[in-house]
Amino acid sequence: MVKPLMSSRASALAGSARVPGDKSISHRALMFGALAVGESTVTGLLEGDDVLRTAASMRALGAEVERLADGSWRLYGRGVGGLVEPADVLDMGNSGTGARLLMGLVATHPFTTIFTGDGSLRSRPMRRVTEPLERMGARFFARDGGRLPAAVVGAERPNPILYELPVASAQVKSAILLAGLNTPGDTTVIEREATRDHTELMLRNFGANVRVEDAEGGGRAITVTGFPELIGRPVVVPADPSSAAFPVVAALLVEGSEIRLPGIGLNPLRAGLYQTLLEMGADIRCENSRDQAGEPVADLVVHASRLKGVYVPAERAPSMIDEYPILAVAAAFAEGTTRMTGLAELRVKESDRLAAMARGLAACGVAVEEEKDALIVHGTGRVPDGGGTIATHFDHRIAMSFLVMGMASSRPVLVDDAEAIDTSFPGFAALMNGLGGKIGEPA
Ligand code: S3P
Repeated sequence: MVKPLMSSRASALAGSARVPGDKSISHRALMFGALAVGESTVTGLLEGDDVLRTAASMRALGAEVERLADGSWRLYGRGVGGLVEPADVLDMGNSGTGARLLMGLVATHPFTTIFTGDGSLRSRPMRRVTEPLERMGARFFARDGGRLPAAVVGAERPNPILYELPVASAQVKSAILLAGLNTPGDTTVIEREATRDHTELMLRNFGANVRVEDAEGGGRAITVTGFPELIGRPVVVPADPSSAAFPVVAALLVEGSEIRLPGIGLNPLRAGLYQTLLEMGADIRCENSRDQAGEPVADLVVHASRLKGVYVPAERAPSMIDEYPILAVAAAFAEGTTRMTGLAELRVKESDRLAAMARGLAACGVAVEEEKDALIVHGTGRVPDGGGTIATHFDHRIAMSFLVMGMASSRPVLVDDAEAIDTSFPGFAALMNGLGGKIGEPA
């Protein structure tokens, strides 16, 4: 069902809000709990559609996965190598992370798994995972371009590989490392640019032997040794920094705002947006910095700020890959030009985010240039017109970015379909309205 939403100019945002759990960590907690021996409990799990698909898939692969009355989740895993052939197709919905990581996991189990997803996921490139997994012995039968639906025939006798990532992708890295769990010997991934390391951190926490070394020629080599005994553990999921980005930018843009967001995950490999906003002049403070199962966490306090345009270097892209849409909105309110480079991967996310942002900003009266792998936003320091109708292409982050835009623009912004927001941030409109936003169905 299509769900249009409109946001109108708000007055000062205020208060404290709990952002839902981290999507990347939530997927991994369910997958590793399903592989571990004994009980794992997960608190703070993101209950968005993407993660619920992974929960259903782990059940289909034989693990016990249940939601308890207090909102936490309990899993009894099968042990490494103990997954069973699912009786039906695994429908991963909108989730690239769910699909790619699970393709890795089943690639070294000797049975057949069939994956599909929604229209967006079925159009996304999968060769990046099937190519290395074939080298480990799995076979894939997919549509043209390696796209879903696809069947994976898992390797009977998997081979360990040493693989250099051709694209900076935590999903591809993780798919190979997960395949390496049920493979004899050492499986190594070399990444020239560091990508989010939740897989490495959490696998270690569950008892796997994961080594990270400097790679010859730059970057790092990550090695997992096959057949570890993973032991069930409690996992506390921090609030998602990629979701927090929306209320953070809204508070920066709406005059007089002051908000607090407790318990936000601030893994340095996820924190590129925050670094960029600080360079733009944002008043964002971290309080109660602490460590939660190897992941750094802090409370964020945000005050409305006058922003200036900056240059965002390509090297920063992996640490803020999901945050360019909302950064582009912040840039539209800044004084001066913001040039974001190294964005080729944005074209193969849930939608072509480079094109979607360029079109949407232009529809809101912002001067913007779209290049092959760059986005240039010319801010004037004045409040943009807004007033646009935005095509979201069933992309949650495009929808949320433009709803934030409408909260601070002169005229309301309409997004054609906000349904996808539930994939990563259920309760988004209510949370923003609780802080003082004006998001609702168009009249
Ligand atoms: C993710 C990795 C990133 C990111 C996605 C989540 C993960 O994708 O965009 O939202 O959890 O590993 P890529 O690996 O394709 O960059």
